[in-house]
Amino acid sequence: MPRIVITSDVHLGITSLPRVQKLVKDIAAQKPDAVAIAGDIGEGVENISIVLEEFASLNIPVAACAGNHDVWNIDKKHPSEVLWERTLPEIARTTGTVWLEDEILIVHGVAIVGTIGWYDYSAQDPAYKASDEENWRRKGEFDADAWMCDWPWNDIEFCRMIEPGFRERLKQAQDNPDVGRIIVVSHSPIFEGQIRRKPNNKKWGFSNAYYGNLNFGKIVAEFEKVTHAYAGHTHAGMEGKMDIKGHPVNVVTLNSQYDDPVYIVIEV
Ligand SMILES: [Fe+2]
Ligand SMILES: [Fe+2]
Repeated sequence: MPRIVITSDVHLGITSLPRVQKLVKDIAAQKPDAVAIAGDIGEGVENISIVLEEFASLNIPVAACAGNHDVWNIDKKHPSEVLWERTLPEIARTTGTVWLEDEILIVHGVAIVGTIGWYDYSAQDPAYKASDEENWRRKGEFDADAWMCDWPWNDIEFCRMIEPGFRERLKQAQDNPDVGRIIVVSHSPIFEGQIRRKPNNKKWGFSNAYYGNLNFGKIVAEFEKVTHAYAGHTHAGMEGKMDIKGHPVNVVTLNSQYDDPVYIVIEV
């Protein structure tokens, strides 16, 4: 039974380097077989590289997906499109990190399958459901991605673009006879149980559009080897259970905060 650590929303640049180093030291003390980082690694390419180098010092397999902050064009010299397509996978390669948008990590029969899991407005509170057009137009009221992420795709287009690869990686894990279980790691929450709801709070309910992708959860639910799903992004710790093809699945959103990233240890 491998021991796997999941962490998320490290945010080096907002979080201090000593705090990140403490996180890595604490994780090392857990003696895991592998680590997965559910995105929002750092603010800007230098910080992202430093975080992945710190994790590489653990000398165990490390897998990561991007978060929305990781594709921000912070210095106006790193367009989001280039970060997404070339720079982030390259940083992963040079630090020996498994880039979950491109590949899966298998550790002792457990597959870690991941994606940035960008939001497609499907997590918006049904009581305040708006059109795709309105959600796109009003994003800046709720989320800095509206001006920090400058790639050419709108949210729906981007989700459509990454969905086939995510499905393919899940299928690859499901079809692999050496894989007994699948752990899903996404930056955005993808299951209802990972999303914090505040009934009768219009601002919150509307803004949930930018904090989840339930359609990706529906895709995951097609794969019966999935036993755990972890997300970050909202910094609003949640823990729930759901049923996939008759067996229980733990669904969690990590409770990482700025300057206080957390981790979870599981044995599966
Ligand atoms: Fe975050
Ligand atoms: Fe995020």
